[in-house]
This record gives sequence, structure tokens and C-alpha cells, in this order.
Amino acid sequence: MPALLFCALSGHQGGADKAAGFAGGGNPNTTRKRNMRELRRQLLGYADHLTQLRRAFHRHPERGLEEYWTAEAIESELDYLGIEHQRIGATGVLGTIKGAAEGRVVALRADIDGLPVQELNDIPYRSENDGVMHACGHDGHIASLLGAAWALAARRQEFAGEVRLIFQPAEEIGRGAENFVAAGVLSDAVRVFGLHAASDLPTGTIGISQGVSLAAVDLFDIQVHGKGAHVSRPHLGADALYAASQIVVGLQAAVARLSDPLVPYVVGIGTLNSGTTYNAVPETAHISGTTRTLSAEHRSRARADVTRISELTARAYGARAEVKWTDVTPAVINPPELCAEVAESARKLGDLRIVTGDSVSLGGDNFAELQQEAPGVYVYLGTADPDRPETQHSHHNGNFDLDESALPIGAALYAQYALDALAGVDR
Ligand code: NI
Repeated sequence: MPALLFCALSGHQGGADKAAGFAGGGNPNTTRKRNMRELRRQLLGYADHLTQLRRAFHRHPERGLEEYWTAEAIESELDYLGIEHQRIGATGVLGTIKGAAEGRVVALRADIDGLPVQELNDIPYRSENDGVMHACGHDGHIASLLGAAWALAARRQEFAGEVRLIFQPAEEIGRGAENFVAAGVLSDAVRVFGLHAASDLPTGTIGISQGVSLAAVDLFDIQVHGKGAHVSRPHLGADALYAASQIVVGLQAAVARLSDPLVPYVVGIGTLNSGTTYNAVPETAHISGTTRTLSAEHRSRARADVTRISELTARAYGARAEVKWTDVTPAVINPPELCAEVAESARKLGDLRIVTGDSVSLGGDNFAELQQEAPGVYVYLGTADPDRPETQHSHHNGNFDLDESALPIGAALYAQYALDALAGVDR
């Protein structure tokens, strides 16, 4: 079982005993202050274990909604730490750490899914699942949150309230968050906090982007219905491939001609499939793509534009287009006051570089769904070692890897923000 594997790898003693051990001793009056300062140092001492955890997850990546090995491994590690847990959906895990008294509820989120990407790295902990890879750093998110769990469990007697650990599946396909929402995990939470590895930030850097940080994401599927004919007699058919090609070209006008050029916006076409042989007019064609927008208003206008252009273009060539939309996620928006809170927590962890700003990415993350249930903030954890080019590849690339010395930093930030948010305005 995974936990035994982890314990064996790490050489740690029993988690609960170990956890109870390090917070005790010393003058009780100074314990709390000392722990604040010592949190990062303690997690640095736990770095080897976090690396082993991350590598175990890296070896066993699973696609969205298929994270059975991953969920079991997380549960085993939580058992090892003496933290109660439950399944949310088929492959989501919720861990709960209750403090010494009733109090606020704070949720921490890590996404746990891998990607359908072939790993190209030649490393000892290379993916063992062919064609599937942790190419976005979610293995590091899991390890960091488990590190925070270890540190927070050790401090149960020192805080009031409850920390909920959200191990969310299927982020890459815009799923997983809805089950935690439906289960009421966020209903009484005062804060939800998430972080993401960033291969474009050096290790030791925390990137905090204020306001709209990640785009709203929608997927569209366009089915074009035409009429088959011999290629020499096109006038007897309706060429679905030709109509679809015009749609692909025409849709870029939604961005270039129908939208404010000062507002970031993407219409991306990922697939176009049509035709069966060289001398037949194709009867059908299928297009899939995505829109990325930054506001609810722009989002609905984008949908209307893409739908209208597709339908009218197909009609112009005697075909018919049917456009179906899948709602992936709203935009991630970080309220300024929560950004300030995270920066303050990060400052308590010592010599970290905190980069703030209002930069926006047209990537997406359905962490936004959690933010719609509770005040939430989502930040970046630098995972690039400037001296190791292999840690600087783009996310979703088969050569992606991360600097594991970022793991205890991620863990410390999760834990510190949770402690600060539990303490509330009095901190
Ligand atoms: Ni990701």
C-alpha cells in the first residue's frame, strides 16, 4: 500500500507520534510565536519526505476522474498523520484537521490529476503510466499540501477552528470542484486557498496576482452537417469540410473584429476532423475549441459570436452547424485584501521573494468554482531552479519537471496562511 511505501521511503516514525513531538517542549508562553517562526524550518526538515511523496505521485500519474491510486495514496498518508478523511466523489479526498476549540473554517486546495502527455524525461521517478504524466506540477501540489497537513496536525492544540484539505481531482478537464461544492465543504469556510507551481518563477518566489488572474474557460463542439456527393459534382452536395474550414478561419474575426483589442481574449481551435476519402465531398465535419475570456459579460458575448459565425457560415455553403458549449470554469479573481493576507503570511516565512502585480493568464483553473462559495485566493509557487534548465520547461510539456526544494516552501505557505486565516483579524 502506498503509505507503507512512503513510510519506508521516508524512514519516519509513526506520523501522529512524530507530529505530537515537535510542537511540545519549551516555554508554553512562547510556543505560538516560536512555531510561527519555526514553521518553515520544520518543513525544511521534512523536505526529503516531501520529495519522496512527490516522486511517488510522479511515477503514478492518472488522468482526471481516474485518480484511484492517487486518492488511495493520499488517504494512506493522511492515516499515517492521524488525520481523518473522506472521499468526495469517486477520486476526491477531503482531510479534516480540527483544532483544540471551535472556531473558523479554512480550506486549502491541491489539484491531483495528471495529463495525457507522454513523459520525455529520463529520470528515476519517470511516469510508469505510458502516455500519462504529471506535466503541470500537481504531484508537487499534493506533496506540499500533505506537508502542510503534517505541520498543522502537529499544532492542533494551538489553534481553534478547522482546516479542510481539499485534494481535488480532474482540474485539467474542468471537473472535480463541483463535488466539493455540492458536499458543502466550502459552505462555512471563511477562506479557501490554492497554489500552483510556476516554472517561470525561480524557487523561493511567491507570485500573487491581484484581480482577474486566470481566464474563464469554455469548450465548444461544432458539428457541421452537409451532404455527400462525388467530388467531381460538388454542386450536388454540401461540402461540410469546406464550410468547417471557413468557420475555423472566420472565428478569428470574433477576436480581431468583434472584440475590444485592449481586452485579452482567445478563440482557439484544437481539432478539425472531416472526410473519409479523397474523392468524396464530406458529409460531416467536427470542430472543437475553447474560448478564454476575463469577465462574465465578455464570456457570454464570446459564446454568442462563436455560435452565430459558425451557424451563418455553414448556412452560406448549404450546410448546417450545431454548436454545443461546455462550461469549464469561471475566471479566477483574487480580491486585493486576500492578496495582502497571503503576502503577509509569506513574509512570516523568511527570505521569500514576493512578486505582486495584476498580470493575467489566459489559462484557467476551476479553483474559481471554490472561490464562488467562499472568499478565496490563488497564488503561484516558483519551481524553477535557475541553474537547472530541466526545471524551466513549460507546463504541459513532456520534459516538464520541478525543483523539489520548492515543496517545503509550498507546504509552509499553505500552513502559515491557514493558521493566519484561522486566527482572523487578531493575528
Ligand atoms: Ni495545473
